Amino acid sequence: MTVINVEKGDITKSPSDAIVVNLFEGVASPEGGTGAIDKALGGAISELIKEKEITGKLGESTLIHTLGKIPAKRILIMGLGKREKFSTSVVRSISGHAARYLRQKGIKHAASITHGAGIGQLDTSDSAQAIAEGVTLGLYEFKNYQSKKSESSSNEKSLESFTLIEQDEGRISALKAGVVRGSVISTSALLARNLVNEPANVVNPVKMAQVASAMAQEAGIPIEILGREDLMQNEMGAMLAVSAGSANEPQLIIMEYLGDPENPENNIALVGKGITFDSGGISIKPSASMWEMKGDMSGGASVIGAMKGISELKPKINVYGVVPAVENMPSGTAQRPGDIIRAMNGKTIEVDNTDAEGRLILADAISYIRHTKNVRRVVDIATLTGAIVIALGHVASGVMGTSQTLVDAVLSASKSTDEKMWQLPLFEEYKRQNHSDYADVKNTGGRPAGSITAALFIGEFTEGVEWAHLDIAGTFLSEKTTGHMIKGATGVPTRTLIKLVEDLAQTS
Ligand code: BES
Ligand code: MN
Ligand code: ZN
Repeated sequence: MTVINVEKGDITKSPSDAIVVNLFEGVASPEGGTGAIDKALGGAISELIKEKEITGKLGESTLIHTLGKIPAKRILIMGLGKREKFSTSVVRSISGHAARYLRQKGIKHAASITHGAGIGQLDTSDSAQAIAEGVTLGLYEFKNYQSKKSESSSNEKSLESFTLIEQDEGRISALKAGVVRGSVISTSALLARNLVNEPANVVNPVKMAQVASAMAQEAGIPIEILGREDLMQNEMGAMLAVSAGSANEPQLIIMEYLGDPENPENNIALVGKGITFDSGGISIKPSASMWEMKGDMSGGASVIGAMKGISELKPKINVYGVVPAVENMPSGTAQRPGDIIRAMNGKTIEVDNTDAEGRLILADAISYIRHTKNVRRVVDIATLTGAIVIALGHVASGVMGTSQTLVDAVLSASKSTDEKMWQLPLFEEYKRQNHSDYADVKNTGGRPAGSITAALFIGEFTEGVEWAHLDIAGTFLSEKTTGHMIKGATGVPTRTLIKLVEDLAQTS
């Protein structure tokens, strides 16, 4: 892992292999740290701007050699784009890009200015946090199974340190705090990415529970794991029905962080779908892209990641992390379309389609945590519907819920993390689509508004609590590597869950 440091000093005197500076689009003479470097180089950067070889366009990266004019060997100039559109999201993204660029050049020790902080465009700590996140998330690789060494594990190409250099003593503590936050939060997201990228023959329900246990032990938080016998004792018929076709035992994972033990009612339950593989069951999926369903536990992975970050950042609030981990397989013991099952809360469900399994396991996981704790708020996170991909593509996750306050808190958190989200309505009129002729409710609502009817099904089990639901079926994977995103698992929405919990701790 790349170590991210903060050091007091003059950036023009840093003896690093490369220094990262920046440029806004349309600026003729650079300011701040970039200006200082430009001056030390006798105007080399301004010259490149004059010649239109550097424009400051977002994501532009230019590497120049200093030829002994300053102690650092190279300068990397990152384009920040338009000044009006500048934000911590830009910093996070260009930092990921810069870190990969440096690693690819074989650079080991880099220094950087804190983008936007010196010129007062961004809060110092926020910018440092975004840099730490961008570097950590952007350098991520999943190469556990390739015999050819990864870029970072071969000694030649690994960025060993990334140091923020600041002259003003008064800003050092804010920078350090930002770096720590950014490192904690992004490392939590990487835990989620790893779980999602691992194949389903490795990450089965028992393995997921083991990873959660290891995390909980390291974080010093309690964890409880229920197996098939326990689920039977609790009459969790919905979760058991989904697991019925699999040789892998289901696990209900309950992690607990008590940050406000004197006020037990100041709490939230994060409930993440943990389908370790979704074949569809008897309503089997087509084989094209079926491999992506190894990531159908992304909601659960983000909850495990978030619990790690929360227990390190220690907000004053109580958080239950709940992950029903189940494999959805077809077999002679699998549930069938048309089956009628009884969920833990007593409601009967007609299983119209065994591929609508996420809502079934979430129903029982929510009932269980409500039954065992006095839960005030529930946020569930699930790769729930293909319909959300049709509605919002791969850009934004869907948000729905019965508590607008909680939905607004989720949306607000997502703005600062840049894990984009958009609300869909839960109008009463949609409910009739889940009507069953044989049971209390049916597990499908037809093609129209498929994400909404899926959410409304979960809503049958959240009556009486403040509830929000995140459908991440379009955002759990990235098709390409760009900025702080790496092709494959995104770790979404781990960072937003941590921010949400911190925000709620501040307001309640
Ligand atoms: N896990 C899938 C949803 C999904 C689709 C996640 C694409 C990620 C990418 C979910 O269990 C599912 O199969 N949903 C069905 C529901 C339908 C049968 C009502 C769907 O969306 O087609
Ligand atoms: Mn499914
Ligand atoms: Zn699924």
